[in-house]
Amino acid sequence: MAERIEVLLTEKEVDKRIQEIGDQISRDYAGKSVHLVCVLKGGSFFMCELAKRITVPVSIDFMSVSSYGGDTKSSGVVRIVKDLDESLKDKHVIVIEDIVDSGRTLSYLLDMLQSRGPQDVKLCTLLDKPERRVVEVKVDYKGFEIPDEFVVGYGLDYDQKYRNLPYIGMVKFD
Ligand code: IMP
Ligand code: MG
Repeated sequence: MAERIEVLLTEKEVDKRIQEIGDQISRDYAGKSVHLVCVLKGGSFFMCELAKRITVPVSIDFMSVSSYGGDTKSSGVVRIVKDLDESLKDKHVIVIEDIVDSGRTLSYLLDMLQSRGPQDVKLCTLLDKPERRVVEVKVDYKGFEIPDEFVVGYGLDYDQKYRNLPYIGMVKFD
């Protein structure tokens, strides 16, 4: 069945919001530097755009996680597919995600990163689907709250497709 993509957030809206978050982070971390941890692959487009708009010194690192078998839904345990290259010791870490859905992945990941001795760990997500939350996660910086729709673009995929769309679209099957 061929799917159709309906625009939810335009490129202009997304860019404007990323600029605002960049300004906010630059103010909040004035006089410090930030270490951005991108969760691959979805967070990569957002992180690059955001990093360009932060005016305090920025360093970046990447990590990739996946579910343990099909059982993560219940356990919430994630497997590290690619770990960070750099230590987090004494850094001001901001985890960059594409979307917080059930919150299971993030909840696990934030605990794990917190145990590596950073000064602090904050969470920044482009999208938030609060209706779907199963595990509570504190979101420090948020682009948009969206309804319970499956979305693509700006790094988010449907079956590995559509990550390159410069806007956020909803996948429709009618
Ligand atoms: P959760 O918060 O642990 O349920 O998982 C969030 C992850 O599921 C995100 O990082 C995305 O990779 C993926 N995901 C959740 N909702 C969507 C969506 O609407 N479109 C694309 N990927 C999604
Ligand atoms: Mg993700």
